[in-house]
Amino acid sequence: MQTVFSIPRRVPARHNVPLRNYTTFRIGGPARYFFEPRTLDDLRLIFAAMREKGDIPYYVLGGGSKLLISDDGIDGAVISMRRFEDRYIARFGNLIRVSAGVRLQRLVTTTASWGLCGLEDLAGIPGTVGGAVRMNAGARDTSIGDRLAHVEVMDSEGTVERVHSAELGLGYRTSNLGGRVVVFIELELKPAVPDEVRERFIEAFTRKKLTQPLSLYSAGCFFKNPAKGSAGQMMDLAGLKGVENGRAAISKKHANFIVNRGGASARDVLSLVQVVRQLVKSHFGVELESEVCVWP
Ligand code: EPU
Repeated sequence: MQTVFSIPRRVPARHNVPLRNYTTFRIGGPARYFFEPRTLDDLRLIFAAMREKGDIPYYVLGGGSKLLISDDGIDGAVISMRRFEDRYIARFGNLIRVSAGVRLQRLVTTTASWGLCGLEDLAGIPGTVGGAVRMNAGARDTSIGDRLAHVEVMDSEGTVERVHSAELGLGYRTSNLGGRVVVFIELELKPAVPDEVRERFIEAFTRKKLTQPLSLYSAGCFFKNPAKGSAGQMMDLAGLKGVENGRAAISKKHANFIVNRGGASARDVLSLVQVVRQLVKSHFGVELESEVCVWP
């Protein structure tokens, strides 16, 4: 068994914290209250404090990689999980227990180095493991949900429950977690030859780097692929590559990436989204659906 623990420490509320730097889009106004729990006790205390203050709307933030936050920010509380037990990955045979605050890429590379396969298709996907579960992050034919055994979630009363993956309503970039916060995750992986796992990881990551604008600020693919066809290909064929609105633009490398060229507002992005939807609808008769969460 290999385990790394972080030291529990209390975290007070911060006020009016700009959220831009907590998202891969680098867009977003301030949070009225901002919390960074490191332990279950921290999170319980935060919920207790929020209950005492009277129902404050709260938003749970992972790596902020599938997220567009309004320029006006959040008139409520944002609970950032990126420091939550952020070094905890433990192995029990083929079962992995990991905290929600661990970076997904740390999980993917660590399990690959242990010679466990099943996550290598997720190479290059940003964000935390908790966020990946909530959004059922995936690439190619694999989603993190395919490898999940159980998760532990905390509700706003501070109660922790262990839930089987089949109960999570996992679908294409979706789950039924609602206001519950994912705190720990258990995955079932398979033993494999370490060099082969590493090779598949490198292959997936290289493909991603070749076809996607990974060095630019974005939220990854903006639209879900429709039942038939590819959203990126449709946007490309509709002539959208390189189209700009303010400081937001459609990537020239992969049309399903809306990129922030530096200083883009949420408004810049959302009006570009309207243009895309209208054009794809008129060319292909398809209503594109966003896979990016928009706050509030
Ligand atoms: N294509 C174009 N022009 C473009 C983009 C794509 O013609 O600008 C074509 C490609 O040549 C290919 C087809 O469209 O024939 C599909 O493209 P790709 O292989 O890039 O896959 P995708 O369906 O666009 C999906 C996921 C990605 C994931 C990749 C690789 C969705 C919406 N996107 O992209 O996920 O990385 O497969 O597995 O499901 C994300 O969710 O943020 C994301 C990037």
